[in-house]
Amino acid sequence: MKLDIITIFPRLVESGLGDGIVRRAVERGRVDARVWDLRDFTEDRHRSVDDVAFGGGPGMVLKPAPIFGAVDRIRRDRGEPSAVVLTSPQGRRFTQAEAQRLSGLAHLVFICGRYEGVDERVREHVATEELSIGDYVLTGGELAALVVCDAVIRLLPGAVGDERSIETESFNRGLLDYSQYTRPADFRGLKVPEVLLSGHHAAIRQWRRREAIRRTLERRPELLESASLDVEEQQLLREVLEERKGANDGDTRD
Ligand code: ADE
Repeated sequence: MKLDIITIFPRLVESGLGDGIVRRAVERGRVDARVWDLRDFTEDRHRSVDDVAFGGGPGMVLKPAPIFGAVDRIRRDRGEPSAVVLTSPQGRRFTQAEAQRLSGLAHLVFICGRYEGVDERVREHVATEELSIGDYVLTGGELAALVVCDAVIRLLPGAVGDERSIETESFNRGLLDYSQYTRPADFRGLKVPEVLLSGHHAAIRQWRRREAIRRTLERRPELLESASLDVEEQQLLREVLEERKGANDGDTRD
């Protein structure tokens, strides 16, 4: 996958790509990443990337010319991108499904939004989509672009050491992860659930599925509405709901 990131903080983005699984994916040639400094596409003496807003008001707006220039250059040097993503709080919400979709594309360009805004002509004529990583406002789109890149890159074949960890993980099937434990089995008197030490694989699998459902129900019940539960999981969900109902009835009696 080709990845081009346009930013006014190239060092921040480079450091975000320079470690861990992302770095490994780059070293293994799974990702061909380039970071572009927006200031290199300015034409004035001060290398200014922003200007005041027409119509007045506080805050500066990222100018169109450097961004158009950077994307033109990427087109010339690196070929036609599959998507040009603008990161901003106004974008569509980034989810695991979006990560899956982007991981199937050959060439992604990110424009990191900055300051109070980006000239609308960038949205209309350069970006092919706009993504937000959540309902909060960051100082700029760099961290958001890194979040998206991280989630996308780890899905590329060969990026993560053991691909089974992706297949079984949270969100893949619309549920939160079950609880995990490692050695020691008894840490300061805090014990690991007995079933996990039993070596009984079917029981372990069942316990984990139940835990995932219980957690999702407690923390993110809305996820269950769109989760793809199989027959066994639907039964587990009914059992967990019954258990909770029993516990609540107990509460009201006390
Ligand atoms: N830029 C600032 N805040 C953002 C957010 N929540 N998502 C994406 N880009 C952003």
